[in-house]
Amino acid sequence: MDIQAKIHQKFTEMYGEDGAVFASAGRINLIGEHTDYNGGYVFPGAIDKGIVAEIKLNGTDRVNLYSVDYDARSSFGLEESDKPAEAWACYVFGVCRETIKRGGKVAGFDAAFAGDVPLGAGLSSSAALESCFAFAINELNGNGIDKFELARIGQSTEHNYCGVKCGIMDQFASCFGKAGCLIRLNCKTLEYKYFPFDPAAHGYRLVLVDSCVKHELASSAYNKRRLSCENAAAAIRKNHPEVETLSDSKRLWLEEVRGEIPEEDFLRAEYVIGELQRVLDVCDALERDDFETAGEMMYQTHFGMSKLYEVSCEELDFLNKLARKMDVTGSRVMGGGFGGCTINLVKEELYQPFIDAAKSQFEARFGHAPKIYDVVISDGARRIA
Ligand code: GLA
Repeated sequence: MDIQAKIHQKFTEMYGEDGAVFASAGRINLIGEHTDYNGGYVFPGAIDKGIVAEIKLNGTDRVNLYSVDYDARSSFGLEESDKPAEAWACYVFGVCRETIKRGGKVAGFDAAFAGDVPLGAGLSSSAALESCFAFAINELNGNGIDKFELARIGQSTEHNYCGVKCGIMDQFASCFGKAGCLIRLNCKTLEYKYFPFDPAAHGYRLVLVDSCVKHELASSAYNKRRLSCENAAAAIRKNHPEVETLSDSKRLWLEEVRGEIPEEDFLRAEYVIGELQRVLDVCDALERDDFETAGEMMYQTHFGMSKLYEVSCEELDFLNKLARKMDVTGSRVMGGGFGGCTINLVKEELYQPFIDAAKSQFEARFGHAPKIYDVVISDGARRIA
């Protein structure tokens, strides 16, 4: 049974009538990692894995949720003090609260939802959940909030209800995703451009290799990286008042403050300043259909994320090294890091040998097989029924 049918069965079983159905997507990011909260560019796209929710207003001031995947329920009111105990329900609660804070109406509703974004893989299952509900609540209450603000509602949910001081990339990709296109997004101004992206037309495939490793404390380590960047930017700002975020800084200006900030903060900022340029270089390269340059940049990103930003791990470094050894065009850890996937740009003829080698060599080394996901760039949040 497909996800939508499964949800519908549960929904009618539990709540009697039919509801409206909404869907949203997880995301990949070709390049531009940890640049979003530094005011830089990112280059994500929504994928064909996401969240589907059936939802109906219930005439009360309470929300009743059912997670099909966890086979679990949560019920909560809409006041700030009503935060549910279940971590998974806090994403929906946060979306309700952030909508209300922006002057939107949120009437009580019943909902059942399920998803197929692998959890902990760095594919933003949480952003998919947030944007699905942000979109649904907006539509069912006739709030007329635009998609930029819906993305911010998801981001503020992470900040205020889930403890992750994330940037805007995941929620933006999930709200604005368009089939067949990557999105080059300026995270400072939210100006964006769709880039048609069809590696198959050029003999390439994009494949994710999931290490199935998820490190504890990833969110506190993430928040710590963000603080390092802010510290570095603050030090640079003393000499160059125009520097709000690292995206306004030059490499040279960072060098000027090397002795004044902890070495760790320097290395984090050094990675970010390199990455800010790489996103633009990859966009330029793809405009010329130059996949080789794009791929080389991906390797540079991996190096930076591993050695300077320190958000890779042994398993991901192993997969990256293997890709390099096999002449895979581009490969790097994707998303926040601390486990999850590598994203690989692979020539068609190398696809099968690479996947086979990744599976067998990874399993021999770490005792479990990685998972392989082929990626289809798809639409973001929308109503489907
Ligand atoms: C996570 C965050 C994003 C972004 C990436 C790293 O996915 O949610 O905002 O910072 O990490 O690029």
